[in-house]
Amino acid sequence: MNFLLLLIVTLWLNCSPGGCSPPSSCLLPPGKWCSSFDSAVQCGVLKQCLESDFLRSRQTADPVNVGLFYESLCPGCRLFLTETLFPTWLLLNDIMSVNLVPYGNAQEKPDGQKYTYQCQHGEQECLGNMIETCLLNMTDMAFPIIFCMESSTDVLSSVDSCVKLYAPDLDHDKLMGCVKGDIGNQLMHQNALKTKALNPPHQYVPWVTINGVHTEDLQQKAMESLFMLVCDMFKGTKPPACGGKPQQHYRSYYHNE
Ligand SMILES: *[C@@H]1O[C@H](CO)[C@@H](O)[C@H](O)[C@H]1NC(C)=O
Repeated sequence: MNFLLLLIVTLWLNCSPGGCSPPSSCLLPPGKWCSSFDSAVQCGVLKQCLESDFLRSRQTADPVNVGLFYESLCPGCRLFLTETLFPTWLLLNDIMSVNLVPYGNAQEKPDGQKYTYQCQHGEQECLGNMIETCLLNMTDMAFPIIFCMESSTDVLSSVDSCVKLYAPDLDHDKLMGCVKGDIGNQLMHQNALKTKALNPPHQYVPWVTINGVHTEDLQQKAMESLFMLVCDMFKGTKPPACGGKPQQHYRSYYHNE
């Protein structure tokens, strides 16, 4: 609770010279801004709410890393990303990290200093992969933006509104400079290298790794209940979301005996 107050004070002190009022869609008092995903977005504090993981600073065990090798227009990828991976991360982001690699079954060919790309679902998918790759490089709000895109009916035409919603300060021209330029081309090459380095090599998308490891068993568990898998694999004290008892309760129990 103290932490939440501190967070709110910090947020108020961070007000821009233009004014301190939250966006007009935010109808909640500051104490409730972080109470749900929607309220955090409406009040423009999602980033701060996600960073407010006071649990993380107490955690001594490494977070469980979930890698997703996927393509921007593959239906199964979109389903997994929007209905499993993102919601799980919202609940467990203090004990899990996510590594998104948009590339999947794409192919690259060297072309001078650059590469040309071919994607399973065509040019549009290559563009979607590139936008998401540049977002991952340019903003720490990339995952919410990618979630927003992938859950829209049209992945590509939602880019501007999704960016505006989650990263209003991200400059459109700068993003497109990456997408159309050498930086994006090189970043996509890194995705290609990461995908080609998979061992065993990927056979389908979405292809999931847990702490860098892919097995059929892990893949199946990730598809069925990523939430339980991450809770099970986490070596530190389970957070309340996992259904474990906070450590303090154990301590006082033993001390009282
Ligand atoms: C973004 O890409 C540049 C150029 O490849 C790289 O130097 C930088 O570390 C990347 N930043 C992030 C946050 O990935």
